[in-house]
Amino acid sequence: MTRDPRFDILFEPIRIGPLTARNRFYQVPHCNGMGRLYPSSMIAMRGQKAEGGWSVVCTEQCDIHPSADVASHCLVRLWDDQDLPILAGMADAVHAHAALAGIELVHNGGGMPNNFSREIPIAPSIDFGFGYHPIQARAMAKSEIAAFRRWHKDAVRRAKKAGFDVIYVYDGHDTTLQSHFLSRRHNRRTDEYGGSFEDRLRLLRETLEDAKEVAGDTCAIVIRFTVETNQGPDGDGRAVVEALADLPDLWDVNISDWN
Ligand SMILES: Cc1cc2nc3c(=O)[nH]c(=O)nc-3n(C[C@H](O)[C@H](O)[C@H](O)COP(=O)(O)O)c2cc1C
Repeated sequence: MTRDPRFDILFEPIRIGPLTARNRFYQVPHCNGMGRLYPSSMIAMRGQKAEGGWSVVCTEQCDIHPSADVASHCLVRLWDDQDLPILAGMADAVHAHAALAGIELVHNGGGMPNNFSREIPIAPSIDFGFGYHPIQARAMAKSEIAAFRRWHKDAVRRAKKAGFDVIYVYDGHDTTLQSHFLSRRHNRRTDEYGGSFEDRLRLLRETLEDAKEVAGDTCAIVIRFTVETNQGPDGDGRAVVEALADLPDLWDVNISDWN
């Protein structure tokens, strides 16, 4: 079969940081309803995508700590080493067809009711305004921000151990702690993590730098970023891209939030 030469570029390799994807077919993070509940189906589905030709195949959002418990067994998670086998199984299935395996690390901040972990949701400031649940989130102490950075670094370390090549820092869809810190609506802090644009951006910048440090020269660090969330088209989206332009190895950009 012949193909229109305009599409040839889609089949050419492309570099993502230290890695090379064999073509431009890239499956961004999305849930498939299987997750930890049906791990062998999840693994087989992602392996089948690699077999079908996608050069990068990602997980759905993968929560990294019980303080933001997505409370859904149909997603994946990486709280500790016990969560490694399912994710390693997916990375192996993707690698079996010469594709790169991607994982999207997430901490959903004050947006999770934590029905299973029973932890009080955490946010930049006291907040009632998240998502679909009647949640009251408490403000994080500075020591907890430092703890969050450690959880995130541990998750990057574990993702690497599970065999993932592409590791996401997720600031998308108005759902993650980093995006809540960036948001003028959710962040009313008066310390160096709130107020000015640079201060609201601090946590996102730090988690990207932390992830790059842990990833070293064997994994690519990708940011998933929502340009218009909270601030609208006149907000900080463009400024964020300009401020962090060269930090991630790839920008995966959405326009707005889940709604
Ligand atoms: C069922 C479903 C689950 C999704 N799960 C995630 C997810 O876990 N993480 C994420 O970043 N995006 C998720 N998305 C968003 C998709 O990755 C994607 O951004 C969306 O389908 C819009 O496509 P576009 O970004 O190419 O416009 C999900 C979308 C759907 C339809």
